[in-house]
Amino acid sequence: MQITIGHLAERSGVAPSALRFYEDRGLISSVRTAGNQRRYEQSTLRRVAFIRTAQQVGLSLEEIGAALSTLPDGRTPTKSDWHRLSKAWRPRLDEQIRRIELLRDRLDGCIGCGCLSLRSCALLNPGDVAAAQGPGAVLLRPEGATR
Ligand code: FES
Repeated sequence: MQITIGHLAERSGVAPSALRFYEDRGLISSVRTAGNQRRYEQSTLRRVAFIRTAQQVGLSLEEIGAALSTLPDGRTPTKSDWHRLSKAWRPRLDEQIRRIELLRDRLDGCIGCGCLSLRSCALLNPGDVAAAQGPGAVLLRPEGATR
């Protein structure tokens, strides 16, 4: 079944302008009617939900686009298509979960950012030794992550 951009926007909670932006970026696709109006497959609702949720947990549109590009073109992705995608994404999502946990658990203490403004900085980051591990809040970085 095909749906209009208005229906897609209403049901997904995403503005038509954002849907057109996703389409311009190749994240979703539509066909045109004789009157040049966009029509989307109903399964596009799942793609849009996936894009929004992935963005909300901090994943970039590039990462999302790369993941969606593994789904088949021209047919509605099946459960096993989505399973394959989610399996490939598991390490990245686990890393993001770990980042959110670190932020939740360490925000009231030293995060290794170089400010040396908290008493705990003297303990956890004396003389900003964390700078040797690279830029940013080093103590909010999951193990093995480089940024
Ligand atoms: S919080 Fe910034 S260096 Fe400790």
